[in-house]
Amino acid sequence: MNIAATRRLPGPAWDELEDVVIGERPDASILIVMNEPVPFDAFPELRLVANFSVGYDNIDVDECRRRGIAVTNTPGVLDAAVADLAFGLILAVRRRIATGDRTIRSGGWTLPALGREVSGATLAVVGIGRIGGAVARRAEAFDMRVLAISSREGDLDAALREADVVSVHVPLSDATRGLISRERLALLRDGATLVNTARGAIVDEDALVDELASGRIDAGLDVFVHEPHVPERLRGLPNVVLTPHIASATVETRAAMTRVVVDNVLAFERGEPLLTPVA
Ligand code: DGY
Repeated sequence: MNIAATRRLPGPAWDELEDVVIGERPDASILIVMNEPVPFDAFPELRLVANFSVGYDNIDVDECRRRGIAVTNTPGVLDAAVADLAFGLILAVRRRIATGDRTIRSGGWTLPALGREVSGATLAVVGIGRIGGAVARRAEAFDMRVLAISSREGDLDAALREADVVSVHVPLSDATRGLISRERLALLRDGATLVNTARGAIVDEDALVDELASGRIDAGLDVFVHEPHVPERLRGLPNVVLTPHIASATVETRAAMTRVVVDNVLAFERGEPLLTPVA
């Protein structure tokens, strides 16, 4: 079958695919993307969209269904990497690691403010699926008190009021867009830390920048509403640690994600059931 991809994927499994064109290919029946919107008109023969990402919020799954196009994603293999980065951001922000690095590089030594403890602090995990669960397990090893908020139950507002650290792990959907609204950000206690490794649009980004500019809270952000654009105001703030959507970006995890993509494509070509279908 003719395969098109928006990029070459890392790891050895990629070489098991034959006849892949990177870029436009009107006769492609399989398209490999990294959560990019599918230009349906450019791929009239499409039968499978294999997404190199667990999140598929930029893929019009309903339209794929209407057109009889299957969609797969890469769940399960990136939980540890994303949880590690979330925890890295928690530590970097609370213990002022990035600030310390900047201080030394600019010839200084003394930090402008003391850090805050991670051990013993209260962590609200918003979205307690596979990744949220992995974050909660790491938090327990740090003697943190964990408030687990599932998307369907649990009192999010109460958790936001109580937490020292909030880590966001829900997928982006109509139900979660703007979930951490201006009003909810205002519930965070002074000195609280918000960490987002899920999707930028789950948090009201303008309201978050306002809260951060006030100096009342701090944040660690791997995701932004209009990537790769990062708001100018955010880049100037000292109380936020910024990373360019790298939560799953390790050699091991990206190779494992490629393995899942390739296995789905090979199963599709053989007419076998897909491993991780979302539609
Ligand atoms: C995902 O898989 O959804 C991640 O955000 C990609 O890094």
